[in-house]
Amino acid sequence: MKVICLGAHILDILGRPVPDIPPGQGRRVLDEIRITAAGTAGGTAVDLAKLGADVVSIGPVGDDVTGRLLLDLLAGHGVDVRHMARRPGLATPATMLPIRPNGERPALHAPGAMATLTAADVPLDLVAEADVLHVGGPDVLGDFTRDALPDLLRFAASHGTVVSMDLLSVGRPELVDVLRPAWQHTGYLLPNDDQIRGVTGRDDLVEAAGVARAAGVGTVIVTTGAEGCVVVDDGGVVRIPAFEVPVVDTTGCGDAFTAGLLVGLGSGRALADAARLGTAAAALVAQGLGSDAGIVDLPSTLAFGAVA
Ligand SMILES: Nc1ncnc2c1ncn2[C@@H]1O[C@H](COP(=O)(O)OP(=O)(O)OP(=O)(O)O)[C@@H](O)[C@H]1O
Ligand SMILES: [Mg+2]
Repeated sequence: MKVICLGAHILDILGRPVPDIPPGQGRRVLDEIRITAAGTAGGTAVDLAKLGADVVSIGPVGDDVTGRLLLDLLAGHGVDVRHMARRPGLATPATMLPIRPNGERPALHAPGAMATLTAADVPLDLVAEADVLHVGGPDVLGDFTRDALPDLLRFAASHGTVVSMDLLSVGRPELVDVLRPAWQHTGYLLPNDDQIRGVTGRDDLVEAAGVARAAGVGTVIVTTGAEGCVVVDDGGVVRIPAFEVPVVDTTGCGDAFTAGLLVGLGSGRALADAARLGTAAAALVAQGLGSDAGIVDLPSTLAFGAVA
């Protein structure tokens, strides 16, 4: 299975546990600090590679140490980074995450080069031959999303490449008009509950999913953290519960969900089984620090989720 992960690739620096930031110049000793390749495209790329997919990453990074480290981490997981867009003089997108004792993850983010992607960065021959084009974070890619993404996704869909999409920011209502032309060609939209509510202005998740489906999205899966997810498509509404696991850090759970879902669909599984594989991948990530924690490979993820 060939997947292109296009969009937000972020270097995450995580520490735990951080119940609060010490006042003044106070100091706190942590159990653990990690650095990972993350982001709605980058984190998903790592998880997809672990689950056995051939993954090409395309996203903007700076030419700084942070960028070299990010590319090295991605490549170490087997992700093809030859098409990452290096931006001289700009900083690589990065996030500091002080993880609370309950696993919650406030994020302190510097976008750097994030909004500099252009159509010229995306080789169309790769898009045509991929099984899936996953767009991670169209809401943070600046002009690219309005100017280039609709045509790119139309091209992908017309070549039989399945398009999936996840958001990065807390959704804003003005985004809906920017995303609508891209949604026409989107097979799977995978936001979390806050994001789909923020973008559509609808509180009810099924109604909110309906707004995206009315704009052309085939299947909307809204992830709802520890509750699980809500799958909305032509077949109706299905709720899939999360696994009850000891949570360390939920960073990247949504990215892992995406990876599991795509691998499930790519291996011919029914939508509900693919979503269950996504749920299993997410539960594994929740049990360690960082978006690359927990998942080892496909057989162990299938076994954990009791997915046939
Ligand atoms: N506390 C938890 N316990 C078990 N599973 C969880 C927990 N939090 C999240 N998950 C799993 O991860 C999936 C995605 O979680 P969530 O809705 O938090 O995504 P997200 O906010 O997009 O995360 P991120 O953007 O950091 O990747 C959920 O559908 C669920 O299966
Ligand atoms: Mg997410």
